[in-house]
Amino acid sequence: MASLEIIRNPGAALLASVDAACFDQPWSEEDYASLLSNPAVGGWVFSAEDGPAGLVFWQCTGEEAELYRLGIDPGKRRRGHGSALLALWLDYMRSCGTGRIWLELRAGNEPARGLYVGHGFRQVARRGGYYPDGPGGGREDALILELALGQEG
Ligand SMILES: CC(C)(COP(=O)(O)OP(=O)(O)OC[C@H]1O[C@@H](n2cnc3c(N)ncnc32)[C@H](O)[C@@H]1OP(=O)(O)O)[C@@H](O)C(=O)NCCC(=O)NCCS
Repeated sequence: MASLEIIRNPGAALLASVDAACFDQPWSEEDYASLLSNPAVGGWVFSAEDGPAGLVFWQCTGEEAELYRLGIDPGKRRRGHGSALLALWLDYMRSCGTGRIWLELRAGNEPARGLYVGHGFRQVARRGGYYPDGPGGGREDALILELALGQEG
């Protein structure tokens, strides 16, 4: 796998442009600018091979963090980039003294679930019908996953 170059303060415009490539329901530059006005919120873009290829975006309040978004450009998936980016970010969270990470994902998002479970996350809750725009026009459950840093295994 190519080495990852992390852009640690990418700004709202770059985050939004990478987000648009990675997610079906992208967040706008205005969304990112508004969220980044909170000093507890942070984001990285990473470059691999020929340019920006993914992002991670979160809120950290010290002891706990919520992972809002982690995405890889569809043309660069299944090369280990998502796993490498998550590992780097978890190391960063450890270095900040964060003890617990939370995240929410769609129950049908098998790639993301596999990624997170592979890094030690476990499911702690399920919110039935949380998303109104599930497959086939129905609702979709949300899964809440948690990772206690230092207790992975
Ligand atoms: C989830 C996502 C970030 C994975 O990125 P990636 O670079 O393709 O992941 P990796 O190549 O590092 O794979 C890591 C693990 O993820 C899981 N995984 C990734 N793609 C998968 C797929 N298509 N099907 C099943 N599992 C998959 C596997 O467990 C994999 O481990 P393995 O290679 O040992 O089987 C990527 O699919 C993505 O951007 N999805 C859209 C955005 C999203 O849903 N983000 C998560 C919610 S915020």
